[in-house]
Amino acid sequence: MTDHRKIPVPQQPDEPAGESLFERANGRFDFNSLIAKPTAFPERPARRAPAAPFEAVAPAPVVPPVAEAAPAPAPVVEPEAARFHGEKRPVDREHLREQGLIVPEGAVTALLEEFRIVKRQLLVQAADLRRQKAGPMAQRVLISSPHPGEGKTYCALNLALSIAAEKESEVLLVDADFAKPSILSALGLPGGPGLMDALMDDTIDVADCVLGTDIPGLWVLPAGDTTSHDSEYLSSSRTAHVLDQLTQGAPNRMVIFDSPPALAASPAAELAKYVGQTVVIVRADKTGRGALDDAISLLNACPNVQLLLNAAQFSPSGRRFGSYYGYKG
Ligand SMILES: Nc1ncnc2c1ncn2[C@@H]1O[C@H](COP(=O)(O)OP(=O)(O)OP(=O)(O)O)[C@@H](O)[C@H]1O
Ligand SMILES: [Mg+2]
Repeated sequence: MTDHRKIPVPQQPDEPAGESLFERANGRFDFNSLIAKPTAFPERPARRAPAAPFEAVAPAPVVPPVAEAAPAPAPVVEPEAARFHGEKRPVDREHLREQGLIVPEGAVTALLEEFRIVKRQLLVQAADLRRQKAGPMAQRVLISSPHPGEGKTYCALNLALSIAAEKESEVLLVDADFAKPSILSALGLPGGPGLMDALMDDTIDVADCVLGTDIPGLWVLPAGDTTSHDSEYLSSSRTAHVLDQLTQGAPNRMVIFDSPPALAASPAAELAKYVGQTVVIVRADKTGRGALDDAISLLNACPNVQLLLNAAQFSPSGRRFGSYYGYKG
């Protein structure tokens, strides 16, 4: 992401202009040497029982056909869609603007354009994962980074705001930074129970913890109660069930997880087991190669890890998003 506070970041002289922030991050950090990309998503086992092996049997005696209507096939029972009942709370647009976040209904800006490109790449990858039968994992994206302050929450919020604007998708933004939640305050939403409460107490339905917003297509799941055992709860068998409920019957819903720094806390590594994609935020001026290496190895349970460059400036000869719309960056 371009730094929208205009903090200058040294431009690499040999950096090709016109590449996406994913590509530029990969180039800067020599991503291919950091990670071996899997070629295909492991296919989930088929639900149907395998057919019984063929056995040669004596031909059955011919029975005259019975003039009886064939029984109607049993109706296919789709799982009930996870309905979120949360009342639609107002998101503080002025507060979004102050934080340099995307403002729905606002003008087309460089920031909006950058996140449109990032979003498109993630949605294409999600569609690929769906075709590879990745199940609900296809709809989940983890936002991570090695250290604090590299822009995870900033990117998770902007990405969610950008996906919410899609005509055919909706988004659930999950605050999975249990020790230092900040999604609710960034959006100006009131506190309430959240993901950790639903993980700790099996009488709590996670769908009841989801907050609606007055931004069409944007839902928010707060972090919930603080516990020193967040990692243990996340690694329990209940997690898969709770996370599956968030997308049940809603194939067009993307779930974005904001998480704590991968090198400082374990939730990101735990969540990496449940997501189809992980975006690792790197700060051109801040993230070191060694830390990135360590973070990526902690997140290796996820089949698709991508780097996203944050707080980089575009060279004057490079692409300047929004210039077609009158943006003066
Ligand atoms: N590209 C950017 N343009 C403008 N401000 C940014 C950008 N990236 C991050 N920031 C700001 O930098 C600060 C730190 O970012 P953020 O809170 O997103 O980091 P984080 O990785 O979530 O940190 P933590 O690990 O502590 O949760 C915030 O005030 C955020 O608004
Ligand atoms: Mg954060």
